Amino acid sequence: MSPPPKPTSPKATTSPGKVSSPGSTGKKSPTPAASSPPSQDPSADPSTANILPAQHWTDQPLPGADDHDDDNDSSLGDDATSSTASLTSSIMAYRTVHGRTYHSDRVTDAQYWTPNDESHIEASDIIHHCITLCHDGALFKAPLSDDMENAIDVGCGTGIWAIDFADRFPNCQVIGTDISPIQPSWVPTNLKFEMDDATLPWTFPENHFDYIHMRYLFGSIPDWNSLLENAYKSCKPGGYVESYEPSCVFRSDDGTLLEGSPLDEWGKVFVAAGKKFGRPFDIVGDGVTVQDAFRNAGFEEITEWEFKCPIGAWPQDKKLKEIGAYALAGISQDIEGWILFVWSQVMGWSKEEVTVFVAHLRRQLRDTNTKVHVYTLMRSVYGRKPLTVT
Ligand SMILES: C[S@@+](CC[C@H](N)C(=O)[O-])C[C@H]1O[C@@H](n2cnc3c(N)ncnc32)[C@H](O)[C@@H]1O
Repeated sequence: MSPPPKPTSPKATTSPGKVSSPGSTGKKSPTPAASSPPSQDPSADPSTANILPAQHWTDQPLPGADDHDDDNDSSLGDDATSSTASLTSSIMAYRTVHGRTYHSDRVTDAQYWTPNDESHIEASDIIHHCITLCHDGALFKAPLSDDMENAIDVGCGTGIWAIDFADRFPNCQVIGTDISPIQPSWVPTNLKFEMDDATLPWTFPENHFDYIHMRYLFGSIPDWNSLLENAYKSCKPGGYVESYEPSCVFRSDDGTLLEGSPLDEWGKVFVAAGKKFGRPFDIVGDGVTVQDAFRNAGFEEITEWEFKCPIGAWPQDKKLKEIGAYALAGISQDIEGWILFVWSQVMGWSKEEVTVFVAHLRRQLRDTNTKVHVYTLMRSVYGRKPLTVT
């Protein structure tokens, strides 16, 4: 086997620099499947015309257990934990979709797409560790000073980033906001969590925060310009706003990600679904350009950082191998949770069809430890609010 290409090392570029997308080339045709993909209905929605229908996956047997190399898949999790997930749902009035719980309609109608149950909380915390490794252990890229007074983590999820940040800056008052109350109560004394919908006009004081952090909000935000306008207003002159987003598309630079394979379809479905329900998933790619939203809002010194995050332990480089193992573990821990809402509620697949697709995807994910060399692009962007606002 030829050595896998190494993902690029982290590098900083100053806006408007762009890193070209390597994933658009190098894909081979799919390995012939047991049944060929059904032809698309020409009257179908054009945004979904390039996606294999659910029937494609239910019509073909799963690859045999011996068809893949899974020597290294000890990091893989088990979706079975999802069955314990709904214990608290009645108390918190969560919505339940096919047995998984999602934020309550009473908090917001924001229609967020991942569950807020234990199985997904665990997946999120693994992904946090993976992202931190991508950043060489750092929690942020912006040049922050130790004398900051106020900071906020918008859409803080499990609160794990905000807790680490509050520990790092004990003299800074930190707020974590979200639409699901899944954060722990034992946290640093300078941190508090609030329920708040970031897509509504912000009610925080103007010129208040030294630092505003937003991570993994893809598929949650209908209007990134409006989000950055709100952040600009609430940010202190001279303060920083930082966004960190992954691509929803998996890529390979050496043709080992086959077109029409489950990991390839994953990205196509997310992109189409984002268009369909008006909350784009392709934040790093051809869709929304967060850098433009920073620029439009009035930020200066906009700085970008891009990274090819491997999925699976396929890289030879030790650090990248570790990152890839954590990325794979974070996805495998709750594949169902990552896709169930989007595939079923947005794209109209049945629970059974989603389950079959998950099984195909899990098989291919195992090969990311060896022969399928996939990665996803990650991008952080930060900008400074000018000291003198005109
Ligand atoms: C993928 S998680 C990322 C969590 C955290 N930022 C991290 O990186 O670990 C996205 C989070 O955004 C929250 N969210 C989605 N829509 C939101 C909204 N309109 N306002 C506030 N939070 C939102 C979700 O509830 C979820 O906890």
